[in-house]
Amino acid sequence: MTATFSTTVRAGLTGLALSLAVGAHPISAQTTSHDEVTFTKDIAPILQRSCQKCHRPNSLAPMSLITYDEVRPWARSIKQRTGLRNQMGVMPPWYIEKNIGIQRFKDDWSLSDDEIAAIAAWADAGAPRGNPEDMPTPPAFIDVDEWEIGQPDLIVSSPTVEVKGQAPDWWGMLGQVDSGLTEDRYVAAIEYKERNDLPRGVKSDTVGGLFVVHHSALTTMGPEDGPREAFTWPVHEVGRNADIFDQEAGPLLKAGAKLIFPSTHLHSNGRDTSARLEVGFKFHPKEYEPTKEVEFLFFGNGPDIDIRGMEDDQRMDAYFTLPENTKLSVYEPHMHAPGVRMCLEAIWGTTAETLNCSGYDHNWVRVYKYEDDAAPLLPKGTILHLTGYFNNSLTNPNVADPRNWSGSGHRSVDNMFINLLQAIYMDDAAFAAEVAKRDEQLRLTGGVDIGCLLCGTDTAAPTAGGGE
Ligand code: HEC
Repeated sequence: MTATFSTTVRAGLTGLALSLAVGAHPISAQTTSHDEVTFTKDIAPILQRSCQKCHRPNSLAPMSLITYDEVRPWARSIKQRTGLRNQMGVMPPWYIEKNIGIQRFKDDWSLSDDEIAAIAAWADAGAPRGNPEDMPTPPAFIDVDEWEIGQPDLIVSSPTVEVKGQAPDWWGMLGQVDSGLTEDRYVAAIEYKERNDLPRGVKSDTVGGLFVVHHSALTTMGPEDGPREAFTWPVHEVGRNADIFDQEAGPLLKAGAKLIFPSTHLHSNGRDTSARLEVGFKFHPKEYEPTKEVEFLFFGNGPDIDIRGMEDDQRMDAYFTLPENTKLSVYEPHMHAPGVRMCLEAIWGTTAETLNCSGYDHNWVRVYKYEDDAAPLLPKGTILHLTGYFNNSLTNPNVADPRNWSGSGHRSVDNMFINLLQAIYMDDAAFAAEVAKRDEQLRLTGGVDIGCLLCGTDTAAPTAGGGE
């Protein structure tokens, strides 16, 4: 598995990489043979932080990336995958574009430009090991099968399903189960885990190949509730990360609640599989009382989706006017196989700001949770503008057959174009207080606060200039 390039080719590549690295990052210009990028000093810490959660024995990814001997054969492939930045296939799976919009998110494991350049320089220099004494101490692992939200206070399991190795996709209701909860509790975070009997650490081109539940919706109902009181939680999707709710807006899980899985999509993956979905709830302390409600501002999708066959660069737009002053806590692009990119823009009065743009890879559904002091603060009347980009051509490996036209629908071969935004609404006084806090933060740190539309203006109340 060692590299077999001729010396000339390798020297050429190294020269190219160095000049690129020098151009982009002056610090690398000091890199000499005495101070080269090495595995033990520079690369191992990056892999520990951003890769080994999945790339370790018997985990989700096809190979372990812990020891030098494990990593060395993958050096070029690692350079290629990390260099994709925000595009389909990038490792780690995180698609936020770094040159525009808000950059501060919870649980952000993406690589900085410097780290991407260091990996490239290291691979091009022949992936040197370096001094073993530089090797960082191994981190305490959190395995992909463990909970990102920490050990849940309550875990409820769905009924077990058996999925044949070869079978058509299945949609339906997975049933309902008792939570066993004996007192009302407010939920700080929720996470889903599919537990199945498939072997781990095997080669699969997609993360979906290791699971059978493509997605599942979840609602809960208290013992006295009718269907109209049912609460809908964020949906489980394969490859999706956990939800942490806004600190002020923990939803209620009622004593004696039932969990209902009203709409589930199961798919075969080549082996007979037995699986169930675990739902983990992390609670707020018992004395906690929410002051706000979490709002699910899902918008975008329409029956008008019209994705033509064999065409790249197709675009759709959607709009939504905020009925209240809003703090966005979650940005979650939701598309299907042809989806490759989405942008969200906020328009208010004469201001238009791009809040975020992100790539999209239907293999990996990502929830991006804004840091509390970076979450967009949008006055009532703000128009949210969503732009979706679709590639329904042979260059998109996620599309099964790009010759097909596709419209709106639930199957993966149909399309969706939605952002599953989560938010809280605020009255004028609470909103003005939040904006004042951000203004104070700006006064101390300088710069701009993307998404805080009234920051730096004299507009205290949002009625002064917005368009309705
Ligand atoms: C959330 C889990 C996860 C994280 C984090 C992650 N990977 Fe991966 N990686 C996977 C899975 C699953 C695959 C195979 C499916 C795919 O390519 O999407 C994969 C594939 C790869 C491949 C291609 C392997 C092949 O067979 O060609 C490379 C290279 C890679 N990862 C490197 C990295 C590096 C480097 C990092 C950190 C900077 C990283 N990964 C972070 C799960 C992960």
